[in-house]
Amino acid sequence: MAKKIRLAVCISGTGRTLNNLIRRIEDGSLSAVIGVVISSSAQAEGLQYAEENNIPIEIIEPTEELGKSGFSAAIFKVCRDAYVDYVILAGFVKHLELPQDFYNRVLNIHPSLIPAFCGKSHYGNIVHARVLESGVKVSGCTVHFVDDGYDTGPILLQKAVEVLDTDTPDSLNDRVFAAECEAYPEAISILAEDRATVKGRIVHIAPRKRAVAAEDDI
Ligand code: GRF
Repeated sequence: MAKKIRLAVCISGTGRTLNNLIRRIEDGSLSAVIGVVISSSAQAEGLQYAEENNIPIEIIEPTEELGKSGFSAAIFKVCRDAYVDYVILAGFVKHLELPQDFYNRVLNIHPSLIPAFCGKSHYGNIVHARVLESGVKVSGCTVHFVDDGYDTGPILLQKAVEVLDTDTPDSLNDRVFAAECEAYPEAISILAEDRATVKGRIVHIAPRKRAVAAEDDI
């Protein structure tokens, strides 16, 4: 049985990803606790999910005075104070400066198969529109560790989705998001089970340990 890892979930908008993680924890398929939800906007719709589930909320809005360094420092201070193991970016639209103690402890999910259709200004339906314009037949989502670049950190998990002739950015987004709802909990479970080792750009994932059947003890 995986230990319950403690998460901070960072949001900026609708919070569908946060909602999915809350549901997976609730149904027992994800062994985790969300210690804090951090929002870069007091107006983020996703805050409702934290409120409904009594999860502590911190609003940290970017200001000119804080700058990128001060904003990032404020976020990671909250994460340290909440004793979280991992920070989960969930539709979080701000770029962060990582302190050393959070290297390989911050995850993001991107709605394409990195290294395609990613990088600065590739978010939301812009990604899916570019995918459709390009004519590729497969897209998907990528869970990766965050480094100092845009969508450049070591890849933990990817799920592919077929691109259909009839797709619009919205319809492709729906199918990619459905894949994200499987991929993110799966990736977090790999971390909860201590199965990932990061070596440079490569993430090695150890096979899941076989549960010992009762008969084995006889
Ligand atoms: C998705 O496109 C995901 O890939 C990206 O943020 C979007 C989800 O945002 N990271 P939200 O959870 O609905 O706020």
